[in-house]
Amino acid sequence: MGTITPINDIALTTEQPFTSKSGLNQGISTCSVHAGRTTNPYHSISDPLVSPATFTFDNTQDCRQFMEKKLWGDTANRTEYGRYGNPTIFAAEERLAALERAQEALLFSSGMQAISTTLFHLLKNGDHLIITDNMYRKTRQFCTGILERYGIACTIVPINDFTALEQAIQPNTRLIYSESPTNPHIRLLDIEKFAALAKNHQLLSIVDSTFATPFNLRPLDWGIDLVVHSATKYLGGHNDLLAGAVAGRKEIVAGIRDFQGVVGAISDAYIASLLIRGLKTLGIRLERQNQSAQQIAEFLSAHPKVENVWYPSLTTHPEYAIGKSQYKGFGGVVSFTVRGDCETAERVIDALQIPLLAVSLGGTESLVSQPAIISYFELSKSERLALGIQDNLIRYSVGIEDVEDLIADLDQALNQI
Ligand SMILES: Cc1ncc(COP(=O)(O)O)c(C=O)c1O
Repeated sequence: MGTITPINDIALTTEQPFTSKSGLNQGISTCSVHAGRTTNPYHSISDPLVSPATFTFDNTQDCRQFMEKKLWGDTANRTEYGRYGNPTIFAAEERLAALERAQEALLFSSGMQAISTTLFHLLKNGDHLIITDNMYRKTRQFCTGILERYGIACTIVPINDFTALEQAIQPNTRLIYSESPTNPHIRLLDIEKFAALAKNHQLLSIVDSTFATPFNLRPLDWGIDLVVHSATKYLGGHNDLLAGAVAGRKEIVAGIRDFQGVVGAISDAYIASLLIRGLKTLGIRLERQNQSAQQIAEFLSAHPKVENVWYPSLTTHPEYAIGKSQYKGFGGVVSFTVRGDCETAERVIDALQIPLLAVSLGGTESLVSQPAIISYFELSKSERLALGIQDNLIRYSVGIEDVEDLIADLDQALNQI
C-alpha cells in the first residue's frame, strides 16, 4: 500500500501509487513549468515542435530493434509513424501525467475524442455503464445515444445518490463515470464515496475533471482509475486550442493508446506545443480564477436582481461540506438565474461589456452564455427544465481580468433590468 498526499493535504492510501515517468512529485506549478521538458539539439528552452507524418530508420536492423523494443513494452520516445504520436505530443503527455500524478497520460484532438475513445476501448457489446446526471450534454448523448447503438447500455443516476448508484449496478456493469464539478450547475462529486463504491463492486471509475483541473482536485489521489479532461478549457487556458486527455494507470492507458493508434484520434504537434505553453501558467491562472469566481458568486448572491447562484463556496450549495473537505477550490464557472425570464437574461448578457458571448470556459477571457439558447436550444422548455436548465440561467466563466472590473460590469448590466 502506498501513501499519497493529495493536494489538500488529506493523507490517503491507495493500492497503487501513481508516479509519472518523470518521477516529478512536486507542486502543481513546478510540474506545469518543468515536467516532460525534453533535451534537444538546439538547447531551446521551449520544446521543439516536431511534426512529421512519419519517422525514418537508418537501416532495417534499427527498424527491427525498434519494433522489438516496442513489443517488449519499452516506451521509446519515438514512433514509426505520426498517427502513433510524436515527441511534442509525448512532452505534453508527460507534463499532464505529472500534473495528475498519473503513470501515463494520453493526448487527443478534443475532450470528446478522449471520452469517446476511452469508453469505446473499455466497453464492448453487452456491457453496461452508469453515469451521473448534470454531465456535459454531448457526453450524455454519446453514452446514451451512440454507445447504445453498439449494444452498450447506460443508466443515468443523480450525482451523489449512492443508493441509486448501487441499485443501478447489474451483473454486466463495467464502469461508473461522473463529472466534477458539473456543467452547468457546478455540483461536486463526493469523490471518496464514488471511488470506494467502484472498488467494492470491482468496477472501473472515471471522472471528468475538466472543471476542477489538477490544481483543485486530483481524482487519482482519491482512488479513481481514470481522469479525463477537455484540455480545451483550463489546461490550454487561452481559448485558442481544442484538445483532450486521459490519465491513469499505465496498463489501462496503454490499451487506450493502442486503440487511439487504430482509430487515429490523435492530436498534433502544434496543438501539443500550445498546450505545453498554456500549462505553464495553470497554477497562477487557477488561483486567480478560484478567487475571482468566489468573489463574483458572493456579489451575485447579494444582488437584488439575482434569483439563485450556483457556486460551491456558498453555504447554500448542496455540496458545500464536500467542497470544503475534498476540493482545494472550485474553478472559474459561476452559474446564476436572474429575476425574470429568458429575455431578461438575454438583456443582462447583452449589457455586459467585458465577458465575450461564447460557449466554452476556463480561458483567460471571461465568457458568458445562456444554456437555454445555445447548448440546449433545440429542446422544448419542459425538456430543458427536466434537465434543470432554466430559461433565465446564465453561465459565467470567469477569466483572469481584474475582478473589480468584472463585478462593476455585472452590477451595471443587472441594474439595467
Ligand atoms: C466537462 C466537459 N467535458 C468534456 C467536454 C468536451 O470537450 P471538447 O469541447 O474539448 O471536446 C466539455 C466541453 O465543453 C466539457 O465541458
